[in-house]
Amino acid sequence: MPAATLAFRPPAPTPRETPLGMFGMIATLRRNPIEIWTRRHYEEPVLVGRTIFGDRAVISDPEGVRRIFLDNAANYRKDDLQLRVLKPGLGEGLLTAEGENWRAQRRSLAPLFTPRQVSTFAEAMAASTREGVARFSRRRPGERIDMLEEMSRLTLEILEHTLFSEGLGRDTGEFQKAVNHYFNTVGRLDPFDLLGLPQFLPRLGRLRGQQTLQWFAGAVDDIIAARRKLIADGGAAPRDILTLLLEAQDPETGRGMREEDLRSNIVTFIGAGHETTANALTWTFYLLSQAPDWRAEVETEADTQLNAGPIEELGERMPMTKAVLEESLRLYPPAAFLSRAAIADDEVCGAKIRAGAIVTVSPFLLHRHKTLWDRPDEFDPTRFLGAKRDKIDRFAYIPFGAGPRICIGMGFALQEAIIVLAHLTRAFRFDLAPGHTVRPIQRITLRPQGGMPMLVTPRQ
Ligand code: HEM
Repeated sequence: MPAATLAFRPPAPTPRETPLGMFGMIATLRRNPIEIWTRRHYEEPVLVGRTIFGDRAVISDPEGVRRIFLDNAANYRKDDLQLRVLKPGLGEGLLTAEGENWRAQRRSLAPLFTPRQVSTFAEAMAASTREGVARFSRRRPGERIDMLEEMSRLTLEILEHTLFSEGLGRDTGEFQKAVNHYFNTVGRLDPFDLLGLPQFLPRLGRLRGQQTLQWFAGAVDDIIAARRKLIADGGAAPRDILTLLLEAQDPETGRGMREEDLRSNIVTFIGAGHETTANALTWTFYLLSQAPDWRAEVETEADTQLNAGPIEELGERMPMTKAVLEESLRLYPPAAFLSRAAIADDEVCGAKIRAGAIVTVSPFLLHRHKTLWDRPDEFDPTRFLGAKRDKIDRFAYIPFGAGPRICIGMGFALQEAIIVLAHLTRAFRFDLAPGHTVRPIQRITLRPQGGMPMLVTPRQ
């Protein structure tokens, strides 16, 4: 196992000495929200205050995180700001629904993501990945690629073939462009939203995203209609997520999903599952390129384990790779910012949270908090190995959230990431393009600014 002494501190914003004023805050939230944090945020467990935007609390104490996401979760709803950003694209799918609508959807969708069900997607994931390997093989040795773009394409293809086995029926490249466009326009925080201005005032970014949204909705409606027809005509429907969705029933009421929830959830799975996983993989390849000792470990596991047993058990055979992935999700959690609005007054770790307050739990901050991690800014996957892994507080490490609203796609994403890491590492080595400066930037998900230029070389 590589010694932790080869300390590598991957790029992150330098904590601010003083908090930002109103205009600075709006500009920074729009430009790159992970740059708002001050030194105190990285050192203190709970910060509560009144700001121009209203009452705000930032919780980085595992006990507090537990209270908000689990013990008193009923008192915390998704706040209006994130709903305004997400709802235009995702409708009222699982990520954005609240109350009884959310509970009914979660009950209906849970069977689609059980470990057993997810393991049935492993072969489709591997098949799409092998196509990705073939694509890379056509590159010249040492050719420059944008890893973020490549991972976006691959994770979209994997989703495409697990959601709808016969594919989207439209060009994946066009679909990918539409998804990227969506994140760069609709997904950007609008100053009007930050100021809480009424919805009838148009948001420029959202107007620009409208066409994309319509294109999205059209593509998904076509696919649903075609599948319904296939089933109605007595055809053998493939056992992919779409068929499972069409069959999904609320176990309490026996009711199927409403038509609009079907479409919202397909778009939600793409919206929530595509960029997040692509970013996690991109960051992991970047970190490996900077830590040759760990890359050698992952290469050894990939060489010896990929074909050594069932593909759905690959994760269990690759503990080092899994530790690298978990460390990557710690340093660069794709969902860097989670927030809720308090419904009634509450007390969290001795601090009073008033009704209406916006409570932020930032995995980015929590995962680099000085009181919770040893050398928090260093890349050290040994944290996630053996007994050390067991000592990590469940609520100090939350790349997939926690409590009843924990990511439903967690098992899916982890299985997919290991399959992709194993296949690509066995075949290629990726190095950061010389002269490129890596900078994390938050655009709904935490991504490398300007992509991740890397050089791809086949391994002998
Ligand atoms: C590395 C990849 C991923 C990361 C880091 C991630 C992260 C998260 C986080 C942090 C949440 C909780 C949000 C909150 O509490 O406000 C969440 C929720 C969710 N995720 Fe993921 N996710 C990933 C992959 C996926 C995939 C592959 C899918 C689907 C195929 C998915 C679907 C969802 C859905 C539907 C929710 C809403 C769950 C609910 O509210 O009941 N995610 N995700």
